[in-house]
Amino acid sequence: MEEFVNRIKNECQTLADLEKIRVEIFGKKGILSEGFAKLKYIPEDEKKEFAALLNKQRDELGALIETRKSELSELEVALKMKSEAVDVTLFNEPISTGALHPVMATMDRIIEYFMLQNFSLETGPLIEDDFHNFEALNLPKYHPARDMQDTFYLNDFRLLRTHTSPVQVRTMLANKPPIRMIAPGTVFRRDMDLTHTPMFHQVEGLIVEDGDKVSFANLKSMLEQFLKHMFGDVKVRFRPSFFPFTEPSAEVDISCIFCQQEGCRVCKHTGWLEVLGCGVVDPNVFKAVGYKNVSGYAFGLGVERFAMLLHRVPDLRSLFEGDLRLMEQFK
Ligand code: DAH
Repeated sequence: MEEFVNRIKNECQTLADLEKIRVEIFGKKGILSEGFAKLKYIPEDEKKEFAALLNKQRDELGALIETRKSELSELEVALKMKSEAVDVTLFNEPISTGALHPVMATMDRIIEYFMLQNFSLETGPLIEDDFHNFEALNLPKYHPARDMQDTFYLNDFRLLRTHTSPVQVRTMLANKPPIRMIAPGTVFRRDMDLTHTPMFHQVEGLIVEDGDKVSFANLKSMLEQFLKHMFGDVKVRFRPSFFPFTEPSAEVDISCIFCQQEGCRVCKHTGWLEVLGCGVVDPNVFKAVGYKNVSGYAFGLGVERFAMLLHRVPDLRSLFEGDLRLMEQFK
């Protein structure tokens, strides 16, 4: 009896264990059946006592088994729940998120820089007319400088803007000086090779002040700061150049960020990378928009060129192929 109580209470850990013990006690060949079978051999005067003892044992062990049974089934349910539980906070497949296109990300960085410097953000139409895209920018009809920009013309003499400079003209026509603006946007030219695509992006900048407040020196320090912000600790060089809408004009180079001016393929062994055009606004531009007694400077840059340099992309066209393997590297 003692032995069974101990086994039920302490040794059996599963319902199956318990069932085994139950059979050992209550089964056809169990100890109770054996006990009751012995009853007939017990002398008459002891029979009653013996039977009472057997009944007591039967009741006690039966109750004990029932209690242990409910304990063990609760335990088994708990174990089962634990082993089958799903942790909904656990990561499975990483979630695939999108990414900004490197050209747009670069554009955003440029815009953010100038917005923080109090430049306003201006926009203009992609389909332009001859006046805004060329004439007002000191590019009269048949002027040879028009060949610098291979233009897509529409049938009605309108054209796809070849640069963001026409937004200068529109902003000046719509506002009085002073002006402090940038114009980011898409532009189009008939051009396609390693470093040119027919559609690309520019950011134009223009500052106009009353009187002769601004000079080339202002332009120079403003652009130097901007280029150091974008490319880090680089040298900046201003090279005399020509644009019809500025006089004097310059092209701006930074020291090669790939070879530190040791000479490499990207800088064509010159140690310098051309990054933008700029200059002091030509008086003819102010005349075209009706501005008098003002001074100003302007600049224009190609966003793809910046993105290529910042991300070391060797072929500009790959930026527009929409290949996910390339784009995923910019997440
Ligand atoms: N519009 C020129 C181009 O597309 C870039 C440019 C150069 C803009 C000099 C300017 C500037 O405002 O001053 O090549």
